[in-house]
Amino acid sequence: MTLLHEITGWLTSLMFYVLCVALIAFVAYCLYVRHVHQKYDHIPGPPRDNFLLGHMPSFVKATSSNNIMHGVFLNWAEKYGPLYRLNSFHYAMVVIHCPEATKTILMSPKYPKDPIFYKQLFNLFGTRFLGNGLVTAVDHDVWYRQRRIMDPAFSSSYLRGLMGTFNEMSERLMDKLEENADGKTPVVMHDMVNCVTLDVITKVLKETLRLYPTAPGTSRWLPEDMIINGFKIPGGCAAIFSSYVSGRMEKFFKDPMTFDPERFDVNAPKPYYCYYPFALGPRSCLGQVFSQMEAKVVLAKLLQRFEFSLVPGQSFDIKDTGTLRPLSGVICNIKHCTEDMF
Ligand code: HEM
Repeated sequence: MTLLHEITGWLTSLMFYVLCVALIAFVAYCLYVRHVHQKYDHIPGPPRDNFLLGHMPSFVKATSSNNIMHGVFLNWAEKYGPLYRLNSFHYAMVVIHCPEATKTILMSPKYPKDPIFYKQLFNLFGTRFLGNGLVTAVDHDVWYRQRRIMDPAFSSSYLRGLMGTFNEMSERLMDKLEENADGKTPVVMHDMVNCVTLDVITKVLKETLRLYPTAPGTSRWLPEDMIINGFKIPGGCAAIFSSYVSGRMEKFFKDPMTFDPERFDVNAPKPYYCYYPFALGPRSCLGQVFSQMEAKVVLAKLLQRFEFSLVPGQSFDIKDTGTLRPLSGVICNIKHCTEDMF
């Protein structure tokens, strides 16, 4: 009986101590979160939804209601300016749309990719996802070794040699479209075009990527304090860049929602660090030249041979799956071009 009493007493004390430790740890964590808030709160930003979750509930709400997260970023950029702060638990981030700061950070190897975000991409849901490959490598030396191996494969001269392959692949797409070119069979163009290539070309490609950048943004780690737009940014936080947001801001592109490929005419002024669908600097897209060459070949063939009309009910809405894609799949009816068009 006494032994049972003693064990119960021990267990009660143990539970009491465990609860005390958990409580102290929780209070210490909350104090740390408060410290992080205080460190970055001089930077303007939307009010936090929640002390611990920070702005996470707004992201979750946006993504669960078929909106895209970068749409929320755009509203905040309009409201809080070219530099604003976000919080999530004990992390602080700054979202940057100042061209000068974009240039400084993205063009320099001094600012590595944000380790918190990119390490999550190594493993997703407990399974190896992107590994420590070119896109995700955070360590400069690890990345540089891989990039040096891959660079020659994407050089312009090597890619020119691939024109034959691009031609052959786009011929296959043409054959598939031929089968459905009766003017009434709906064809999911997004799926079709993705079978062989990417669906963009020169000026139209550039303007498309302004409004619909498939990879909407990137992030970098700011290891040291820096001044951006007159605000001191304490080191040890992530900087987020969104080409989707900059591309839709009136201050960078007049009448931003109008689709106007002439913005990218060779004689038009070049956008200054506010347009970067392939990212910028040393960690920019390796497939940038490849994808554009491939797209030009296919689009030229499409325009020569077919007329496309969107099946009614299609929208320009975007589906955010990390990369952006057309929500309704771009379902088209396809007809052969009439002779008199040439
Ligand atoms: C329209 C098509 C494409 C767009 C808009 C695009 C966009 C981007 C962007 C924004 C990044 C930076 C990602 C980040 O910072 O997390 C990136 C990186 C990368 N992309 Fe692309 N990409 C396209 C096509 C391709 C293709 C076709 C390939 C390969 C054949 C490719 C290979 C890569 C690689 C290897 C990286 C990592 C580069 C590095 O960190 O050194 N991309 N891409």
